[in-house]
Amino acid sequence: MRFFQIALFSFLLQCSLFFLVTCLKGRSGQTSVLVGTKLYFFGGKNLAILNVNKVVSNITNEVWYLDLSNSSLFDTATPIWYQDVGMPRGVIMATSCVSLTNNSAVFLIGGRQYLSNSNNISFNSPIFRFDLNNNSLWTIPNITNFNNTFKTRNLIQAVIDKKGKVFIFGGRSYFVNDSDNSPIMYYNDMNIVDINTMSWSTLVIPQAPKSFCYTATLLQTGLIIYIGGVDYNISSGITLVNMSEIRIFDTTNYIWFTKTASGSFIGGRIGHTAVLDQNGNIIIYGGSISIDNVDGLPSFPHLAILNTSTWVWSIPDISPSNTPNPLTFHSAAFYKNYMVIAFGKCIIIMIYFDNKNLL
Ligand SMILES: *[C@@H]1O[C@H](CO)[C@@H](O)[C@H](O)[C@H]1NC(C)=O
Ligand SMILES: *[C@@H]1O[C@H](CO)[C@@H](O)[C@H](O)[C@H]1NC(C)=O
Ligand SMILES: *[C@@H]1O[C@H](CO)[C@@H](O)[C@H](O)[C@H]1NC(C)=O
Ligand SMILES: *[C@@H]1O[C@H](CO)[C@@H](O)[C@H](O)[C@H]1NC(C)=O
Ligand SMILES: *[C@@H]1O[C@H](CO)[C@@H](O)[C@H](O)[C@H]1NC(C)=O
Ligand SMILES: *[C@@H]1O[C@H](CO)[C@@H](O)[C@H](O)[C@H]1NC(C)=O
Ligand SMILES: *[C@@H]1O[C@H](CO)[C@@H](O)[C@H](O)[C@H]1NC(C)=O
Ligand SMILES: *[C@@H]1O[C@H](CO)[C@@H](O)[C@H](O)[C@H]1NC(C)=O
Ligand SMILES: *[C@@H]1O[C@H](CO)[C@@H](O)[C@H](O)[C@H]1NC(C)=O
Ligand SMILES: *[C@@H]1O[C@H](CO)[C@@H](O)[C@H](O)[C@H]1NC(C)=O
Ligand SMILES: *[C@@H]1O[C@H](CO)[C@@H](O)[C@H](O)[C@H]1NC(C)=O
Repeated sequence: MRFFQIALFSFLLQCSLFFLVTCLKGRSGQTSVLVGTKLYFFGGKNLAILNVNKVVSNITNEVWYLDLSNSSLFDTATPIWYQDVGMPRGVIMATSCVSLTNNSAVFLIGGRQYLSNSNNISFNSPIFRFDLNNNSLWTIPNITNFNNTFKTRNLIQAVIDKKGKVFIFGGRSYFVNDSDNSPIMYYNDMNIVDINTMSWSTLVIPQAPKSFCYTATLLQTGLIIYIGGVDYNISSGITLVNMSEIRIFDTTNYIWFTKTASGSFIGGRIGHTAVLDQNGNIIIYGGSISIDNVDGLPSFPHLAILNTSTWVWSIPDISPSNTPNPLTFHSAAFYKNYMVIAFGKCIIIMIYFDNKNLL
């Protein structure tokens, strides 16, 4: 049964594993949310290859969306892009979620912030609010009880529950400005923001690893499922998370636990994405095994499914035609029967140009 398909919308033109120079323009590390039929993309690293020796990149404040209701969109070669009001900063490695109750808004949370379309670090606010009703106005909400350790938190993924509570686990710190050389910090806390009141609380979870670059998926049952990414501890440094070890946070009683998944072997990864499908299973795509400052090698398999009733991993048998190249730091959304994958980096050895960009 063919129960989903992959559509690739990308600025990466004919990018293949072997021909770096054919990647003329790219974007990665953006954050994305689906609002009704509109799939929004916020920020990311904007990269242009001028010629073999000259690559320019910077962190963009641009906001773009696709309207998935237009069936012609599934001609993925020519999607129509709509640009919306830019963010107050260029942002990368952030997370976002949408609240459709009261006044609809997107909350852009954390990430590394830069002066728009530059490589100059410039932190502003840990949360930006994007008003979906009021001319796409960006505002800085006043947060009560904000935890200052979250100021530069990045490589995180938030989920929002039905009551408007946002849960953000772990992550790591970043530099507050270009001359900041303070050490990177790693966290095993759950930061919880109630968007109705904009009040903040932090729950330290001593038994949880300090972890980042995972995916987070909220199930109907109120469980948040954390998959992959890397852990940090003082003795081993940064290590890839075993994909058989599924970390779970129960939002009804605030309990953290792990489940051992069985089934197919799924390689560890960072920079992957996860979506919840119509049957309540989690589909993951992409990612790399590299944990240092190069993109490294793709993780295998590129695509896998976790059955959230049996905790069994499987690798779907899909036609190789039209499948995207292995990607990292792309974004993914589930719409109708489609997993929509956008942007990202083709996994090739491509050195970052921001020497503070550790991942
Ligand atoms: C940012 O990068 C894009 C290419 O990705 C380039 O077109 C633009 O000129 C750059 N902006 C600045 C201010 O350098
Ligand atoms: C849908 O796509 C077609 C062709 O790609 C375009 O001409 C049309 O304007 C689009 N419609 C909307 C509502 O965006
Ligand atoms: C970024 O910093 C560089 C070096 O300090 C400076 O020359 C440049 O003007 C800054 N860019 C912006 C957009 O402020
Ligand atoms: C919309 O934004 C404007 C500022 O641009 C503000 O004065 C107004 O109160 C906002 N309206 C609503 C309904 O939030
Ligand atoms: C935040 O508080 C300041 C000072 O009380 C106020 O000027 C500002 O309008 C508030 N911002 C929002 C988005 O409510
Ligand atoms: C940059 O960050 C460092 C470390 O937090 C701080 O000491 C310094 O004052 C900051 N510099 C500027 C220009 O804000
Ligand atoms: C709407 O916002 C108010 C506070 O402004 C809050 O008390 C209420 O729970 C919110 N409603 C929903 C459905 O989130
Ligand atoms: C803020 O977060 C840090 C790091 O997780 C934690 O140690 C601290 O207890 C938190 N502070 C409060 C007031 O919750
Ligand atoms: C550190 O991480 C390694 C690899 O995941 C693990 O084997 C070890 O038990 C951890 N050490 C501590 C002190 O948590
Ligand atoms: C990953 O976890 C599974 C289940 O606990 C275990 O069987 C396997 O040996 C682990 N793999 C590695 C490389 O540690
Ligand atoms: C999960 O696995 C069970 C047992 O194999 C199967 O009955 C069920 O249909 C699977 N769930 C989905 C949504 O595929």
